Amino acid sequence: ALLGALAALLTGCNVVTPDHSQSTFDTLGPVAENQLFIFWVIFWAGLVVFIAVEGALLYMVFKFKRRDDLDPKQTHGNTRIEIAWTIAPVIVLIVAAVPTIQGIFYADAGRYVDNNGQSNELLVDVIGHQWWFEFRYPNPNNPGEQIAVANELYVPVGEPVVFLLDSVDVIHSFWVPKLAGKVDMIPNNDNKMWFQAYAPGEFFGQCAEFCGVSHANMRFKVVAVPRPEFDAWLQHQASAAPLPSDPLVAEGKELFRDAGCSGCHAESSIIKLRPDGGRIPGRTGPNLTHIASRLNHLGVYRNSDVPFEDHANGGRQLYVNVDGIPQRLDGQPFVSEAMLQNNLKTWISDPEALKPGNLMARDGEPYIDPANELTEREIDALVAYLLTLK
Ligand code: CUA
Repeated sequence: ALLGALAALLTGCNVVTPDHSQSTFDTLGPVAENQLFIFWVIFWAGLVVFIAVEGALLYMVFKFKRRDDLDPKQTHGNTRIEIAWTIAPVIVLIVAAVPTIQGIFYADAGRYVDNNGQSNELLVDVIGHQWWFEFRYPNPNNPGEQIAVANELYVPVGEPVVFLLDSVDVIHSFWVPKLAGKVDMIPNNDNKMWFQAYAPGEFFGQCAEFCGVSHANMRFKVVAVPRPEFDAWLQHQASAAPLPSDPLVAEGKELFRDAGCSGCHAESSIIKLRPDGGRIPGRTGPNLTHIASRLNHLGVYRNSDVPFEDHANGGRQLYVNVDGIPQRLDGQPFVSEAMLQNNLKTWISDPEALKPGNLMARDGEPYIDPANELTEREIDALVAYLLTLK
């Protein structure tokens, strides 16, 4: 039981959320399933070894307990025992190695990618940033372009999806516990992985390599949807945001440029590829083209741009989805629009409070030209504009 509890802790079993949203024991895809199988093989083999060794130890302790002052009979060399204790570990190693090596080859994305880096499957570029994930999809309307989104990874259900992992700064690690084990995202390195989701749903992803002060806040969500819904989503992400009609929103859109937001955040999700097909770096911050579409899916609060903890409550409260209705763990009513608004406001006025150390904050102050400090109304206008970017 102790070993089991320790294993559960070490494998990232999330005891906070009742739906085990990050449990590696609740696999929902073939890669994670295979990795869980390897875990159980090694766990049971380890248990057998543990019981055999500890049993033998206890047997010796009690059976050969010293009852007089005499030394026990001394023996030197026993060929049979030496052969046995050489063969036994070899067997244990084979039991562990065979499924592990098979699993390494199974999880390798090489099966879906040819030597030219092409694939018949969906290829998604995953780019790590301190502390958010950028995902770039091939633009179905133009092979020379990519569609960039942040912190929310849509995938078609039942299809293998291949991920090309990279980072613009330090080493991060890509991990969706229910779908596949972690693979590091190393700058200028071409790590790849793949996974597949068996069923539609939302899965939590997490950076699994310590990458700085907000490492723990570096997470994302995987949304697995049927193919037609995925195609529609991708088309929508590729489309331009609607032009503002409301005056406050129009003011916000103008401020987005004047206050310097657009220096780091793109308002178009389209990124051109180099003529040779290579990727170009995007802007520093997450693309906000459809940020408000990332905030609510079936009414569920879900975006790590706007952390899903309630920061008013010390950042601990997680939200859960009960029969399609978002609920707080403490049973309080769920407030979506107002809370989003509030979180976006905090992102603009006090980004340090949401993701300590992030580039929006400089020396703990918002990264906005001090000579051009935003008024309350201007912040409201920016938030109103962002909320229209659905
Ligand atoms: Cu990125 Cu930890």
